Amino acid sequence: MQVHNNKRDIKADVAQFLREKKTIGFVPTMGALHDGHLALVQKALTENSVVVVSIFVNPTQFNNPEDLQKYPRTISNDINLLSTISNDIIVFCPTSEEIYGSNPISISYDFCGLEHEMEGKFRSGHFDGVGTVIKHLFEIISPTKAYFGEKDFQQLQIIKKLTEIEKMPVQIVGCPIYREESGLALSSRNKRLTDTQLKEASLIYRTLLEVKNSFGTKSVVSLNEWVTKQFENHPELTLEYFEIAEVSTLKSITKKDKNITYRAFIAVFAGEVRLIDNIALN
Ligand code: PAF
Repeated sequence: MQVHNNKRDIKADVAQFLREKKTIGFVPTMGALHDGHLALVQKALTENSVVVVSIFVNPTQFNNPEDLQKYPRTISNDINLLSTISNDIIVFCPTSEEIYGSNPISISYDFCGLEHEMEGKFRSGHFDGVGTVIKHLFEIISPTKAYFGEKDFQQLQIIKKLTEIEKMPVQIVGCPIYREESGLALSSRNKRLTDTQLKEASLIYRTLLEVKNSFGTKSVVSLNEWVTKQFENHPELTLEYFEIAEVSTLKSITKKDKNITYRAFIAVFAGEVRLIDNIALN
């Protein structure tokens, strides 16, 4: 398996692929790979002539330095995992210098308000950091299609907007959330949960499922109240937000309208670990 650490080498590969008219599937990651990432890679392999996976813990998208420092880094394990799927995958593991030079800063984007909802309220600057790194990575890799999990649904919508703003000819492919048997959405952060937290965190998906089942018959206000109650005084879990939002604008609603597609979004702390999830409602 090819592993590149610098832009020059991967760009040389990409230039060759483009000359050969190959399609390039790209899966950007921050490593600590799990089955959810591997499902993205599998899909990319079936839809493209070559697949590039990047592993880069992007400093500009962390608003909390401790979260950046504690983010799991398991590069050699990640490379081994990828090699179990296919030896033809090209891995790009740049340093921060390689992406940003000596000064890792974000471009300030206007994502038409998508960036101010939900995660944007709690993680200042986060989406500028994501947009910036994805723009840099897309410029280096020139992907035909890029694959993102729906667990970070707001990120997925913002990256679609980014490609419009930057006029990048990349098809953004959203992929369903991959879950543990308990229903907990797979996340690299799950590695930081204690056994008890891991067990208790299944409440997040059970709550979302119940909201989905009741969405047709209950009001948004009563669903919001019910969800708040589920987490009140819970010994292991603290609800940060629960919102039912329109899919196109990500604006949260208090009343349903006909012919509009909605999703429920949730963020919960299990100890210090922040977990997010979402579900389609209609
Ligand atoms: O979802 C992630 O892992 C990251 O936000 C991404 C898209 C790789 C950008 O750093």
